[in-house]
Amino acid sequence: MKVEIYEALNENYNLANYDEAVKNHNWKDIEKNFSWSETGKINMAYECIDRHVDNGKGDKIALHYKDQDRQDSYTYKDMQVASNKAANVLKNNAAVEKGDRVFIFMPRKPELYFALLGTLKIGAIVGPLFEAFMEKAVKDRLENSEAKVIITTKDLVGRIPKDELPHLEHIVIIDEDVPEEYVDFNTEYEKANETFDIEWLDKEDGLILHYTSGSTGQPKGVLHVQEAMLVHYISGQYVLDFKEDDVYWCSADPGWVTGTSYGIFSPWLNGVTNCVAGGRFSPDGWYDFIQTFNVTVWYTAPTALRMLMGAGDDIIEKYDLSSLRHVLSVGEPLNPEVIKWAHKVFNHRIHDTWWMTETGGHMIVNYPSMDIRAGSMGKPLPGVEAAIVDDQGNELPPNRMGNLALKKGWPSMMRAVWNNKPKFDSYFINDEWYVSGDSAYKDEDGYYWFQGRVDDVIMTAGERVGPFEIESKLVEHPAVAEAGVIGKPDPVRGEIIKAFIALREGYEESDELKEEIRKFVKEGLAGHAAPREIDFKDKLPKTRSGKIMRRVLKAWELDLPAGDLSTMED
Ligand code: WTA
Repeated sequence: MKVEIYEALNENYNLANYDEAVKNHNWKDIEKNFSWSETGKINMAYECIDRHVDNGKGDKIALHYKDQDRQDSYTYKDMQVASNKAANVLKNNAAVEKGDRVFIFMPRKPELYFALLGTLKIGAIVGPLFEAFMEKAVKDRLENSEAKVIITTKDLVGRIPKDELPHLEHIVIIDEDVPEEYVDFNTEYEKANETFDIEWLDKEDGLILHYTSGSTGQPKGVLHVQEAMLVHYISGQYVLDFKEDDVYWCSADPGWVTGTSYGIFSPWLNGVTNCVAGGRFSPDGWYDFIQTFNVTVWYTAPTALRMLMGAGDDIIEKYDLSSLRHVLSVGEPLNPEVIKWAHKVFNHRIHDTWWMTETGGHMIVNYPSMDIRAGSMGKPLPGVEAAIVDDQGNELPPNRMGNLALKKGWPSMMRAVWNNKPKFDSYFINDEWYVSGDSAYKDEDGYYWFQGRVDDVIMTAGERVGPFEIESKLVEHPAVAEAGVIGKPDPVRGEIIKAFIALREGYEESDELKEEIRKFVKEGLAGHAAPREIDFKDKLPKTRSGKIMRRVLKAWELDLPAGDLSTMED
């Protein structure tokens, strides 16, 4: 496949010389940005908020919030007071203590952020949940983590089966007219003290517990610790390229690791102005959001970009998006087509970043100072050692496909799968390599290329095909909004390629169109890559983070149980 290269612009980026930074990297040096390198006492909430107030930045805007009905801005000083009050409410009215698991189950509102920071100030471990989770998903997570407190709203409280959760002591409701049996956050907050004695922690103490689905079994509770902040901080510098005056927007929900590592920790550790958009996705809403706050750095996901692309270029004309200076993406492969489109309409190269819930922060990324090879995830973060290894942990030479692995021991590496040591251990080969479950290869110049989840690779008539490459090709077709590709068992060919396609506005499904799309892939990519079967769907099954759930497509196709659907978008 021809690779399009987008050259880095000659600007003053935080990471000007990648090779030098890799050579000179030392995590101890990065620690020196924080007082805990001397005192040994650490607290993420302090480093995110109070430290900036102590350093004279109290009047700077820390948070801009906007949804359809509400727009509010808060300074770092406001956030300090709000998180102190929240901490007092949780400590005094819900008995939260150091090390407790406190879940937050509510839509993105400023109060979510106050409560999350307040929880951290007590030294408790936060467990964020997507507001769309239904009862089973909520129960599994609270049960596995033995959560003591959950913070929610009146709309959602019905999905918490309190009687079946013996460890759950308090339900805190952030709403009006809270029934007696619950802790009434707003009322207590009004009365709460504005100061709070932060609980000082060890760098290996718990920070956050993110539940994530694997290909099998129950969701896993991935535990991160305070020290993870080193990665959040330095990737904010190197990758998000934060400068003092940046106004940053990460469109991810905190229910997903992107919405915490990069929607909370990274921007606030770096003291920039952070933006949160409430409510649902809409192209107009999103462009309006960028315009309203003059967003400069924007971190989003391929699925959102593809939806914006599908909404058409005319809408963009209505908005002034000239504040944008740096755009990034995460979560699934960034199709070259999307990079090309964004370059055309926004005049920005989109920077892909690769990482996982388990890695806690950026691992392989496109730095602003580096040429982008469209379709590549980029190169490892300085301080992170990546490799392509075989199943025994032997490193493979360039251009060979294998397991994408990371040398154990970076600060934001998960420290445990909650209550599941065997699962945790199963991630590692020889106690040396963390194995991601993704397959990839590295080219001669050290760029990494994603090929698929290890279990998604399709073998058809002896040819090994990655579904991503085909999906990328499919979405280049003008009629295709989104595509998911699976291998369907076939007696003759082993597997055949089957594509599920959602069409763009204005296109009708027809056999002619199927044939045209098939021809398009055959001609644009390879004969063996053309889907033999195509099904049109109104929507494709996706995780809340926007990944097309191929295993659900496969289950539909083969009439099998679809497995754990708790992370599926409704
Ligand atoms: C996929 C947390 C291709 C990959 C951020 C990984 C990506 C999984 C990329 C982690 C990317 C993430 N290109 N694939 N830039 N980023 N992935 O934990 O399969 O929800 O293993 O993401 O997403 O998913 P998670």
